Amino acid sequence: MTNIDNYNFAEKKAFVRVDFNVPVDENFNITDDTRIRAAMPTLKKIISDGGRLIIASHMGRPKKNPDPKCSLKHILANVSKNLGIEVKFADDCQKAQEMVASLKDGEALLLENLRFYAEEEGKPRGIEKEDPAYDAAKKAMKEAQKAFTKVLASYADCYVNDAFGTAHRKHASTAIIADYFDAENKMFGYLMSKEVAAVDKVMNNIVRPFTAIMGGSKVSTKIDIIENLISKVDNLILCGGMTYTFKKAMGGTIGKSLCEEDKLDLALEIMQQAKDKGVNLVLAQDSVVADDFSADANTMIVDSDKIDDGWEGLDIGPKTIKAFSDVIVNSKTILWNGPCGVFEIDKFAVGSKAIADAIVEATNNGAFSLIGGGDSVACINKFGLADKVSYVSTGGGALLEAIEGKVLPGIAAIKG
Ligand code: 3PG
Ligand code: MG
Repeated sequence: MTNIDNYNFAEKKAFVRVDFNVPVDENFNITDDTRIRAAMPTLKKIISDGGRLIIASHMGRPKKNPDPKCSLKHILANVSKNLGIEVKFADDCQKAQEMVASLKDGEALLLENLRFYAEEEGKPRGIEKEDPAYDAAKKAMKEAQKAFTKVLASYADCYVNDAFGTAHRKHASTAIIADYFDAENKMFGYLMSKEVAAVDKVMNNIVRPFTAIMGGSKVSTKIDIIENLISKVDNLILCGGMTYTFKKAMGGTIGKSLCEEDKLDLALEIMQQAKDKGVNLVLAQDSVVADDFSADANTMIVDSDKIDDGWEGLDIGPKTIKAFSDVIVNSKTILWNGPCGVFEIDKFAVGSKAIADAIVEATNNGAFSLIGGGDSVACINKFGLADKVSYVSTGGGALLEAIEGKVLPGIAAIKG
């Protein structure tokens, strides 16, 4: 594989796929530009080499062309500011030939949202799967996608994929385009390399003991991850709303706590699997229960399997905090996905904060800690501890699929 560090971009036109799918408020102000900042090492390397930079991304899930709400124009100023140069803008990603041709060494161009074209995702629009004409429409779309991809590829001499957040999508710009470049002229960007290395440390190069902390409200959405991890970890901490499906399956009473009634058997199966594999499965012992899902609810601490009617578990209790923390601080590899309580409400963020603190302590003692997947990133940011752990992933769905053990198309396209 070509290493970006060894590539000289001077006078080369580089097509860089990034994931600038950042959250914006109702006035299109970016509320968290982590993903933009995370791509800067790659973009700056190309500029400082004297390359000609073509930046491409999606934003949101637009279903028409154009869809002004999803325009990348809204983030142009931020990208320019972070990159330290005035970035140009092509308001149609398929009609940027002239702008690309006029790029000078060290200049940058941002293409409008790739997903304005259905071809980026390769799924026909405005027709349902049930429609008898769907198969033909899909076939036609695959052909159109080739033409779309060819145009993007024609802009550049080399292709860089730095869009880890979108690596689980087999789209024109994330995967298919790689075929248009030979091995010497396609590569991961720095962010992608870091993400891939972090995943590798928890999937393959594991220093033991390895502890995974999985939160989340449902067992069903995390089942593939749990099943993949159970053959790798020494300790598996399952927390969050799914706790109560386990407690109920074991015969406990859980009041009005979250519960997937149709997953009780699955919960028992997971417990059996852990036992068979010698995995230390750690569940909550006590909970902070509330009589309402709100900041001013009445609360008390009870055993997690003895919750009265009218009460629901919204955080872990002190015994559990101690049990979880003891396991975490003695670990050498840690993966955290999903908080253990309703951390958005301060009153129920105590358990998640304790987990974060334990991870920081373990990291200080030499452990490798990876935090990722949606809520856990918001959680670690809320506590201001993101720079105290080994790595915080920019991937939501992509990270989850990677730890399910799936091959991500964006990675495979470069690695071969
Ligand atoms: C994300 O934020 O999940 C990525 O940018 C991918 O977006 P998608 O889920 O709409 O494909
Ligand atoms: Mg997603």
